[in-house]
Amino acid sequence: MSAYDIAPGVAAALERFVLPEKLGFGAVNAPVMFSAEWRDGQWQRGTLLPYGRIEVWPGSRALQYAELVFEGLKAYQVGQARPNLFRAQDNCRRMERSAQRLSMPLVPEALFFQGIESVTSACARFIPGRSGQSLYLRPFLYGTESGYLLRNSHTFRFMVIANPVESYATGAPTVAIERREVRAAPGGIGTAKAAANYAASLRASSAALARGHTVALWLDAAEHRYIQELSGMNFFAVIDGELHTPELDDAILPGITRDSLLTLARHLGYVVHERPMQIDELLKQIEQRHCSELFACGTAAIVMPIAALAEPDERAYRPERTDEVAAQLRAALLALQERRAPDPFGWTREVA
Ligand code: COI
Repeated sequence: MSAYDIAPGVAAALERFVLPEKLGFGAVNAPVMFSAEWRDGQWQRGTLLPYGRIEVWPGSRALQYAELVFEGLKAYQVGQARPNLFRAQDNCRRMERSAQRLSMPLVPEALFFQGIESVTSACARFIPGRSGQSLYLRPFLYGTESGYLLRNSHTFRFMVIANPVESYATGAPTVAIERREVRAAPGGIGTAKAAANYAASLRASSAALARGHTVALWLDAAEHRYIQELSGMNFFAVIDGELHTPELDDAILPGITRDSLLTLARHLGYVVHERPMQIDELLKQIEQRHCSELFACGTAAIVMPIAALAEPDERAYRPERTDEVAAQLRAALLALQERRAPDPFGWTREVA
């Protein structure tokens, strides 16, 4: 007997699904999803369902107070018989930390894997197979109880939805330095993958897009001097041939791709620095040609070259090179994720 239920309609939804040529990032929904409820102090049996609308109480704490945390990870199937997941256990651990920070029940590892693996194996024949493409998995946990009292829900739902995707951004976009608003402050929830952090970033992200940039670069809340991260991505600079990235603090999301790149870069012989990085010092280093390259990374973005950093008045700081070190790291990371190269770190895991 399966450890989870399979709802009527799953076989028909899988049968009907046709993978379109153009995927984008999140534009195409996988035909199935996973759902499990927390009530009476425990997790109930999960169910694999056809992808579709869900019911939520208008007064649920997820909608009223953003009681929602999520993860993003990918299943790859590039020239392989079976899909494989990359560092999924680290996503599980981070979801636990996010849930802890928001005082929500933890999703046990067995349930987390049941969710992501049931969706991945059901969708195995739709996982796009070109390098850089994958099945993006979005596990999320939210408070379902209705009410305005400022306390946590007593009922929750854990879900996994998925999307066949290509990379989040193409080319080498420009990035808008956000000098006024803040994404996260010390003591807040910046290190959790909480929906509220993304809500805080949406106005600056929309404004950046309207100005022709792809994403905003966030600075620290206290002094607006130190680089934190880009919306949904971590930040790297190549300075005098060495790699620099902001050191983690209690406002930066600890990216799993960030950590993978640090490990891979050291493995490839780069000197790597995790340190507080001042934005004005970096801009000077770009002008003086010490900083030769910038890039961002994340599960969605993989490794995204940055062509320039732009001030609010559109003064642009453009390093001499784009996509050299970034391209090398992206190639090494993708080869590992897609199981085209040996995995000395034990990061990949085949889905049965
Ligand atoms: C991810 O990379 O998984 C994220 O959650 C970032 C988002 C911009 C798609």
